[in-house]
Amino acid sequence: MRRHRELSSSKLDLVENFVKNFKKQGGKYEKHPVADSRIRDQLSGSEVPMMKREKAFSANGFYMFVLESNIMLHRHAAARGHKLLSDWCRRNWRNAPIKILDLACGGTPYSIVRMMGACNQYKFSYTGIDINPDQIEAAKASWFPDNVVETRLIEGNAWDLSMLPADEKFDIIFTGMNTHHGTPEEIYCLLLQVKERLAPGGIYINHDLFRPAGTPHLPRPDVNPDDPGESFAMVAHETLAKYHASELASPIKAEPNPRDWRERFLTKYKLALQERGAHEEGIREVVEHVSRRDYPISTKDLEAIAEQAGFVLSVLDMEASGEPLEAYFSLVCAQPS
Ligand SMILES: C[S@@+](CC[C@H](N)C(=O)[O-])C[C@H]1O[C@@H](n2cnc3c(N)ncnc32)[C@H](O)[C@@H]1O
Repeated sequence: MRRHRELSSSKLDLVENFVKNFKKQGGKYEKHPVADSRIRDQLSGSEVPMMKREKAFSANGFYMFVLESNIMLHRHAAARGHKLLSDWCRRNWRNAPIKILDLACGGTPYSIVRMMGACNQYKFSYTGIDINPDQIEAAKASWFPDNVVETRLIEGNAWDLSMLPADEKFDIIFTGMNTHHGTPEEIYCLLLQVKERLAPGGIYINHDLFRPAGTPHLPRPDVNPDDPGESFAMVAHETLAKYHASELASPIKAEPNPRDWRERFLTKYKLALQERGAHEEGIREVVEHVSRRDYPISTKDLEAIAEQAGFVLSVLDMEASGEPLEAYFSLVCAQPS
């Protein structure tokens, strides 16, 4: 376990300065020398392809601009999540730090950190997992509020929790902006692992991109259509088999509206970034990422998957944001049934 309490105020200044300068430059960032999304890793004895060094999510990557500009409603998710977390803490506080697991935490764990910080009468022990070593290094130097009394950052695949000590459990498991890369079977497999890892009374919270209700699901290809050497899988076949993921009854229903929603989404996304003064190269990068890697399910689909995995899912009302992409982002909470 690493302690970062002593770093908090100076690191906060560093982060704020970084964001200020970053905005001044219109979202300009340094190029990362290694931007090869085909890098593969050995995990749990299986080869799983990774978004390990995607430029936008690497050191000084453009994602910081996306995050701070609230285009994906991080601030609103943090505010609604705070309400949920404080209710949970009030009912479950036992005078011991509340254990939080943050899957695909990124270099600046944002919403969950703000949720914990706002619950300042309670103490937290935080574990973050990310596949990108840059992001883990950045997260180690990132700001954590004083009531986060322990932080632990692990480089690894957040869709395979077998890297954690076998009997380790968490009170709250959180994913921000990552499950939209998974197929329904992979999400089912993840939820089954989450269920195993939740302490009694624990809950799973997810802030993510969801396809709008009534529009057709775009199934994720197994490999990158532009490069068959790159697999899109998030979970190794062995792990899917271990959790019998193929037994999931497909949650995907035929939808009345045949129009691909993604084109509209991307048009709005680009426009919103341009209006906020983002750098063209950064815009190109995230638009390419969404076009190539994002295959979100709807909140209805997630509800059906969660039910089969033994959860009850609630979609939480967030305050109206006025953000142009508001309809695409939700905060959901799953409780073991
Ligand atoms: C869009 S960022 C999300 C960061 C943060 N959680 C948030 O809510 O803004 C996605 C992060 O997921 C990480 N990532 C992608 N695939 C992953 C995987 N299989 N396991 C762990 N992290 C992964 C990337 O490195 C990146 O830092």
